Amino acid sequence: MDTAHGAGELDLGPDDLPDGLVVADRLGLVSCFNAEAARLTGRGAEESLGRPIESVLPLEDPEGRPWWRLTDPYHGLATRSGQPERNLLLPGGREVLVAARYVRGAAGGAVRRLVVTLRGTDARRRTERSNAELIATVAHELRSPLTSVKGFTATMLDKWDRFTDEQKRLMLQTVDSDADRVTRLITELLDVSRIDSGRLEIRRQPVRLDEAVRRHVKTLINGGCPADRFELRLSEQVAGLWADPDKVDQVLGNLLENAVRHGGGTVTIEMHHVPPTRTRQEGMAVTVSDEGPGIPEEAMHRVFTRFWRGSERGGTGLGLYIVKGIVEAHGGTVTVGRSDGGGARFRFILPAGTPAFLS
Ligand SMILES: Nc1ncnc2c1ncn2[C@@H]1O[C@H](COP(=O)(O)OP(=O)(O)O)[C@@H](O)[C@H]1O
Ligand SMILES: [Mg+2]
Repeated sequence: MDTAHGAGELDLGPDDLPDGLVVADRLGLVSCFNAEAARLTGRGAEESLGRPIESVLPLEDPEGRPWWRLTDPYHGLATRSGQPERNLLLPGGREVLVAARYVRGAAGGAVRRLVVTLRGTDARRRTERSNAELIATVAHELRSPLTSVKGFTATMLDKWDRFTDEQKRLMLQTVDSDADRVTRLITELLDVSRIDSGRLEIRRQPVRLDEAVRRHVKTLINGGCPADRFELRLSEQVAGLWADPDKVDQVLGNLLENAVRHGGGTVTIEMHHVPPTRTRQEGMAVTVSDEGPGIPEEAMHRVFTRFWRGSERGGTGLGLYIVKGIVEAHGGTVTVGRSDGGGARFRFILPAGTPAFLS
């Protein structure tokens, strides 16, 4: 056996541990109380050593029951080897995650040593807080279009005869587009939750990227975008691409819509082959650049986060988060930078991928 990992040669002390460590001897008296345990409990090692562990760590479960009396480590079934990690309370209501191991002399013998680890709950609190913030943001995002829908419908129902047909049409158009906004937000939120929980399904099929790009540009032109706003530099697609065509459409649709809506000038779409290297699979890269204001340098690391919007003109702010999630679920990468024309430049690389029946 490799003894280089033995604690002796590592010269590892209790204070080196990132978690709190409290050890009690066979009588239940504290024999070790490390620095992190002191930090978490707010009591020093000197006043803890040699004292009964129940008085040093008067832990209670969330219902307020004393934990040592509930678990009774020194008595009870001799087959018990410890306690799994649990959320407990210190005096004053401070939360800690606690786990315990009962070290026995022989299998089924008496407990010789009780080893307890303590861990702060800050990290978990932080995720809980960010979830709460997410819910607040979503509620806020949903409320503004719904307030407008409610306002216009109530006004029209109330004063139906006093509005001209033209006025009613205008109001209904606003209601219609606000309803679209809510629907879109909800669709995007469902994608976000799939990405966050790792449930985004990629159904791989052969994909022709050049054709997909042409199709998207055509849709934008049919939707009223001047045709001369687009410049296509599509090389022959040499790599056979196995990807999820609907998801690739979502990525292209988002990047092109952003370039048209948030960017400006000519939108250039380039495509090139990415040759394989020792660390990277062969793939295809697509670059979308425009000549608009671009993304401010200090915001570049935030464009792919949820709900980030550069201006009031922004939509939901989820588009680029979803783009990143989809590209990464394919094993690819997406980056943002500045184009030669001063605008924004987004580039994504999709690895060629393996057909589903081979993977
Ligand atoms: N081509 C671009 N030029 C300038 N700003 C952009 C561009 N693309 C995206 N942005 C900025 O990034 C923000 C986030 O984009 P996105 O996640 O797609 O959300 P949305 O389009 O719904 O606002 C946009 O609100 C915009 O401020
Ligand atoms: Mg967008």
